[in-house]
Amino acid sequence: MPKNQQVLLDNRPEGEATTGNFKLVDAETPALADGQVLVRHHYMSLDPYMRGRMNESKSYAQPQPLGQVMQGGTVGEIVESRHPRYAVGDKVVGFGGWQNYSVVDANVPGSLRKVDTTHVPLSHYLGAVGMPGVTAWYGLVKIIAPKAGDTLVVSAASGAVGSAFGALAKARGCRVVGIAGGPDKCAYVQDELGFDECIDYKVHGDVKSLSAALKAACPDGIDGYFENVGGMVLDAVLLRTNAFARIALCGMIAGYDGAPLPLTNPSVLLINRIKLEGFIVSEHMEVWPEALAELGGLVASGKLRPRESVAEGLAAAPQAFLGLLKGKNFGKQLVKLI
Ligand SMILES: NC(=O)c1ccc[n+]([C@@H]2O[C@H](COP(=O)([O-])OP(=O)(O)OC[C@H]3O[C@@H](n4cnc5c(N)ncnc54)[C@H](OP(=O)(O)O)[C@@H]3O)[C@@H](O)[C@H]2O)c1
Repeated sequence: MPKNQQVLLDNRPEGEATTGNFKLVDAETPALADGQVLVRHHYMSLDPYMRGRMNESKSYAQPQPLGQVMQGGTVGEIVESRHPRYAVGDKVVGFGGWQNYSVVDANVPGSLRKVDTTHVPLSHYLGAVGMPGVTAWYGLVKIIAPKAGDTLVVSAASGAVGSAFGALAKARGCRVVGIAGGPDKCAYVQDELGFDECIDYKVHGDVKSLSAALKAACPDGIDGYFENVGGMVLDAVLLRTNAFARIALCGMIAGYDGAPLPLTNPSVLLINRIKLEGFIVSEHMEVWPEALAELGGLVASGKLRPRESVAEGLAAAPQAFLGLLKGKNFGKQLVKLI
């Protein structure tokens, strides 16, 4: 069996996460039992949710166990199989974690999914045509539930979730305004993703300035907001919401390293009779087939051209992950392993 390398969670962060929280180790690959397959990972996914799981605190998911392989999504290829439904060479998406190989019990429902790379590159199954894409779909379709002509806003607009949200919302005839950090990300959001406008929150660095920029970009007010960031950005958006606006509360990355996220205008929630709903995409597996079919179509037809930031090699994962939490990624953050 091939030699494996793994990244473990070595100790829990106090405040900001650091590379010292992780440990790179060599490992053996166990021999397969009946029903198991050996997957060689081509790419692994780095996602903001992983930061929350590094903490001990109570959450919707169990914390990442100490001394074990960092959990996370992977795409790869079957290199050995003792399962009748999987053949060597099959491309699969799974949850293999931060390592080069994983042994998967293919009988466990949801443990592996075969994917077709004819029209969609393998890596996109971790991004636009994977968990982040479905996240955008759920918040848009099930929570914001837009009508054509609505004005929608999304934060972290150039990222894995935000970019998919834009394409899905444009396909429904909405005006879509992004919020992102820096001129390059904003140019990409407008010129390549086809958003109507994109506001640079680093130029508009306080609530007053950002809400003025939102007023100019959303002259008819905001009907739906997809929240990825929290804090100042949410405050500014709230000030521009219309009556009965819907907010899909997807993420609050500005607070993942422990920074407080004060809200100075919560009364707007009442005054505008806003519906605000948090959600976790893995609790809505029933929508995945429909969402993935639409997202796959958008990518295959070129209507969604997702961007990727690719770190090379397993050892680069911790640094790339910390960069993701600071906005150093540009599009879906991946680690290429082969
Ligand atoms: N609820 C769910 O089930 C679910 C599932 C998947 C993802 N999520 C959430 O969705 C959000 C986006 O995830 P993603 O995978 O698409 O990541 P991403 O957008 O590809 O990358 C994260 C981006 O967040 C922005 N960011 C980081 N720190 C920030 C700060 N302090 N203030 C403002 N923006 C900041 C950065 O973009 P800028 O440079 O533009 O600031 C960074 O590139 C995250 O909050 C994540 O936790 C939730």
